[in-house]
Amino acid sequence: MWCLVLQVQRCLQSTQPVPAARLPYRVKLSAGKRYAWCACGYSKKQPFCDGTHKAKAPNISPLLFTPDKNKTVMLCACKQTKNSPYCDGSHLKVIYRDVVKYVKGLFK
Ligand code: FES
Repeated sequence: MWCLVLQVQRCLQSTQPVPAARLPYRVKLSAGKRYAWCACGYSKKQPFCDGTHKAKAPNISPLLFTPDKNKTVMLCACKQTKNSPYCDGSHLKVIYRDVVKYVKGLFK
């Protein structure tokens, strides 16, 4: 029985990040402060990690980074960026994919 519970739990764990939002977060960062950017998309403290990946996506770790100066940046929310933790515009593909899915659903 316990083994079955573990198998079901593993099936529910994600190996791919999920979009936390469709647009990036504008965030003020402080020089020398250590941040943990959520890479899985499940954190309730977006765009930062709250530890939820341990249960929902144990194969995805947060990205730790420390800015060298105070700055305002756009941190990725769709979790598809190729320039983590920063937005690279990949969210436009996520939005496009969602629109196509929605429109296809209208004609079913
Ligand atoms: S929010 Fe992810 S690339 Fe822009």
